[in-house]
Amino acid sequence: MSEIERLGVVGAGFMGSGIAESCARAGLEVVVFEPEGPPLERSRAGIERSIARAVGRGKLAEEDGEALVDRITWTTEIEDLQRVDGVVEAIIEDARVKGSLFKKLDALLPDARFLASNTSSIPIAEIASWTRRPERVLGLHFFSPVPVMSLVEIVVGYDTHEDVVALAEDLSRDIGKHPVITKDRSGFIVNFLLVPYLMAAIRMFQDGFAAREDIDEAMKQGCGHPMGPLTLADFIGLDVLYAIGDSLYEEFKQPEYAPPPLLKRMVVSGAHGRKSGRGFYDYD
Ligand code: CAA
Repeated sequence: MSEIERLGVVGAGFMGSGIAESCARAGLEVVVFEPEGPPLERSRAGIERSIARAVGRGKLAEEDGEALVDRITWTTEIEDLQRVDGVVEAIIEDARVKGSLFKKLDALLPDARFLASNTSSIPIAEIASWTRRPERVLGLHFFSPVPVMSLVEIVVGYDTHEDVVALAEDLSRDIGKHPVITKDRSGFIVNFLLVPYLMAAIRMFQDGFAAREDIDEAMKQGCGHPMGPLTLADFIGLDVLYAIGDSLYEEFKQPEYAPPPLLKRMVVSGAHGRKSGRGFYDYD
């Protein structure tokens, strides 16, 4: 057991909400902070829908579902994080924005056992450098949809203390996840392997090599993947995928990581995948 009873989550988007839901399912008290009200309302509605689906399918008793929602507090006041034991940040993939948040959290939560980032590509050492206790900073990288995917990558920064890594392993297991440990290198384990594959699929489509449906069906029917690469890219978010590819390319300077021109054109045009209603496919 990790002895973490109250967890703070900064960011009420798809990832932050999924992390909050998974932790509350495991019995933790969760405080979700976001400076604006509407994302918090969407987060609450999304979690309630997910719980209703689990209750409807007989996977969760109705009263357990209600108790789960009661364990989550949604707030626009950052001070409400003061009573948590540790924080996971899941905000936009921007090193400066994350850095200044960590600076604030460092000042606000002197007793927090850890300050974690769910970043998929920004160096943990860079985020940690904004704080006065880099030994307590690490990456906790979840996978979407978080309530379904059981992996957590624990990213060990340059200064992360081994006790903090052990605590993160215990916490991951407490919430029913499988932790793997990785060094602080762009892409960690999964995106280092996944992103070149997704970029290759986008290049195939861009160059007219095969139809989007055939690219996706080939990987589903031929390799047993639950989603084809273009559907998965839409699901991850094309803006997010672009940012990860860019950061991998920046780190390794190898062409397989570079976002193809089509991906860039789609992102600047607002086609961000499923969440924006259009990507490689259209969504309602
Ligand atoms: N939130 C909560 N639960 C969800 C959910 C969501 N958003 N979406 C689906 N589920 C649950 C359903 O309730 C259902 O649960 P039960 O089996 O307990 O009833 C289960 O997931 C299966 O759902 P469905 O039957 O509706 O749909 P499906 O069988 O097509 O599965 C999927 C959906 C789980 C998303 C599946 O298609 C899948 O595994 N896709 C691949 C996802 C993947 O690769 N994720 C990693 C992305 S990379 C990443 O996240 C890291 C990064 O840095 C970019």
